[in-house]
Amino acid sequence: MRLVQEHGEGATAADAPSHTVRIAGGEQRFSCAGGDVLLRAAHRAGLAFPYECNVGSCGNCKFELVEGEVAMLWPEAPGWTDKDRQRRRYLACQSRPVGDCTIKVRFDARYASQHRPLRTQAVLAARRPVTHDIEEFQFVLDEAQAFEPGQYALLQLPGVEGPRAYSMSNTAGDGRVWEFQVRRVPGGRGSAALFDQVAPGTRVGIDGPYGMAWLRRDAPRDILCIAGGSGLAPMVSIVRGASTEPALAQRRIHFLYGARTPADVAGKDLLQALPGWGTRIHYEAAVSTPPAAGEWTGPVGFVHDLAGERFGERLADMEIYFAGPPAMAAAVQQMLLARKVPLGQVHFDQFY
Ligand SMILES: Cc1cc2nc3c(=O)[nH]c(=O)nc-3n(C[C@H](O)[C@H](O)[C@H](O)COP(=O)(O)OP(=O)(O)OC[C@H]3O[C@@H](n4cnc5c(N)ncnc54)[C@H](O)[C@@H]3O)c2cc1C
Ligand code: FES
Repeated sequence: MRLVQEHGEGATAADAPSHTVRIAGGEQRFSCAGGDVLLRAAHRAGLAFPYECNVGSCGNCKFELVEGEVAMLWPEAPGWTDKDRQRRRYLACQSRPVGDCTIKVRFDARYASQHRPLRTQAVLAARRPVTHDIEEFQFVLDEAQAFEPGQYALLQLPGVEGPRAYSMSNTAGDGRVWEFQVRRVPGGRGSAALFDQVAPGTRVGIDGPYGMAWLRRDAPRDILCIAGGSGLAPMVSIVRGASTEPALAQRRIHFLYGARTPADVAGKDLLQALPGWGTRIHYEAAVSTPPAAGEWTGPVGFVHDLAGERFGERLADMEIYFAGPPAMAAAVQQMLLARKVPLGQVHFDQFY
């Protein structure tokens, strides 16, 4: 067994031959096409391979290499440690088999894909500003692909090493149009490429859908969506999906948005267009930086505190979705834990 290291996606990788990946201790196996990575090939084959971020950060997709060779696309991935290297453990989202191989991993039904992900290309049809640093990008896919509200896709952007994860903000419709709301991250390479190099007509690689924080259509509870900053898109998608879902017609939908300043507040205009706005769909935003006098009349503070104040004991009876930067997501999790909200009613995909 030998570790082959190869940085980047490789221009000719897609022409490389497929390899068979066997799961140790059983009959299961799947084919990993040239240019694909182990994790995503497993999901294309309908296998519930554990994962979360898909971009090398969380470490949830680790497997043990029993036999064969893999190329690690991003050896510096934060989710891959020296200990993992010593124990022949690899990140499936960063591994490409270089021949047939055998791996050890425990599948888990909660990671099962709602829709088997598709690798295809998409063309940017339109973009528009949402706030001073968030824009909405509308792509049209070469091939239709369904997704659930709240899921995300991987975009392969021009000149950027490795794909970036972005959540869809729309609902799937006929599966051809996927919309994203992306925040420009200071110093970020992927978001800079998207903002500065992707104009209408530009083609990008797209792969999805992924993610576990999708709208539970059969959950008999009111819905609370909590979004912070760049977490806007998946929460807007959840509300859009829930607003037209017949099984959820009697449910109230609450959307709380946490922003740093009044200029960062977003989302209300998107929800105002939905059926049920003002009767069963409600929106409130909080800003965390004390505003200048007369600049803001809403709540000041963190969005997890706002959720606790507004809903208190009722949180335990709600279906809760949230998305945003790691610090906000950790604070929301803690607040929900302290209020004894059953874990099965809480849905989020950690942003990295
Ligand atoms: C599930 C999920 C959903 C997300 N949804 C949204 C959203 O809807 N809107 C939004 O604005 N942001 C979203 N993000 C954050 C987004 O993916 C980026 O992290 C963010 O835009 C910063 O990327 P950047 O390239 O600008 O910054 P950079 O600092 O250049 O890159 C950071 C990201 O790129 C990955 N990365 C860096 N180098 C490599 C490499 N060589 N190979 C592979 N991966 C690499 C990192 O793991 C990290 O995710 C989401 C993240 C996740 C995990
Ligand atoms: S899913 Fe591979 S490191 Fe997060």
